[in-house]
Amino acid sequence: MKSEQELKDIVRDKYAKIANNDMEANAASCCGATTPSNKVYNIMMDNYNEVEGYAKDADLGLGCGLPTHFAQISKGDTVIDLGSGAGNDCFVARHEVGPEGKVIGIDFTTEMINKARENADKLGYNNVEFRQGDIENMPVGNNVADVVVSNCVLNLVPNKEAIMHEMFRVTKPGGHFSVSDVVLVGELPDGLRNDAEMYAGCVAGAIQKDEYIGLIKKAGFKNVSVQKEKTITIPDDILEKYLNPDELAAFRAGTTGIYSITVYGEKIGKTIEKPRVKLSEIQHETCTPESECCTPNPLFI
Ligand SMILES: C[S@@+](CC[C@H](N)C(=O)[O-])C[C@H]1O[C@@H](n2cnc3c(N)ncnc32)[C@H](O)[C@@H]1O
Repeated sequence: MKSEQELKDIVRDKYAKIANNDMEANAASCCGATTPSNKVYNIMMDNYNEVEGYAKDADLGLGCGLPTHFAQISKGDTVIDLGSGAGNDCFVARHEVGPEGKVIGIDFTTEMINKARENADKLGYNNVEFRQGDIENMPVGNNVADVVVSNCVLNLVPNKEAIMHEMFRVTKPGGHFSVSDVVLVGELPDGLRNDAEMYAGCVAGAIQKDEYIGLIKKAGFKNVSVQKEKTITIPDDILEKYLNPDELAAFRAGTTGIYSITVYGEKIGKTIEKPRVKLSEIQHETCTPESECCTPNPLFI
């Protein structure tokens, strides 16, 4: 079993390599130039093309939802994005907070931070800041964020309890979060659970959905709700790399589910000033390589 530090090193190395590719290159490399398992980095992403504030250069195809869609960000807010990558959700959040607000992206991979800063410079934003650091110990004071967002990152953090507490610490009383992440219902076969590539690909580090929601509540958040849920279907040509034919058949026939969920929760406090919009009922869709939520991905067209 790998230590927490070894897992973090695996994740940092993987995302350092990915940072230097754009989305097309990441997707194209899945076609056969490198290992087919790279596809796992692209199969969960949502389509941002229509999203206001979207900056194509910042979209490396690494998300598993659209957390800003449920984040109820207001003009003037301070937003923190955990595991900000090349800045994709930060720039969408920047559109929501406007010039009077502030966005802070945090990531521990140097190459991602450099790429994100380059993107912010190109866009001419002076209120989007990228800080390098581990989100288990964020380089941010207490009670800073009106809104915390994160897209497909918390599953990569070995100590899930610590990250939920950190998320609570940096959120202002009266603030809230919207996080997209991968969770499981049922157990993964050993071949998937123990693989480093699957860990860095956001699958093997995922925990049970109930446990995930439980840790959020334990950290102190209230009014916690799953806003959207997508079923993730990993293609056979990826699974074949990790499972023998019998294991693959058993996995397909079994009840284990891999899901991308977008969760919302509030840090109750005296400073709530903004009326909350009533959140929608849960949306559910199935995310397979062929489905809309995974496009654009030239691999599967
Ligand atoms: C799957 S990518 C998602 C990037 C971005 N949120 C997006 O949707 O494009 C995961 C990102 O989280 C970062 N990350 C993973 N673990 C981290 C940690 N413990 N502290 C800070 N950043 C972390 C990685 O460097 C990588 O940029």
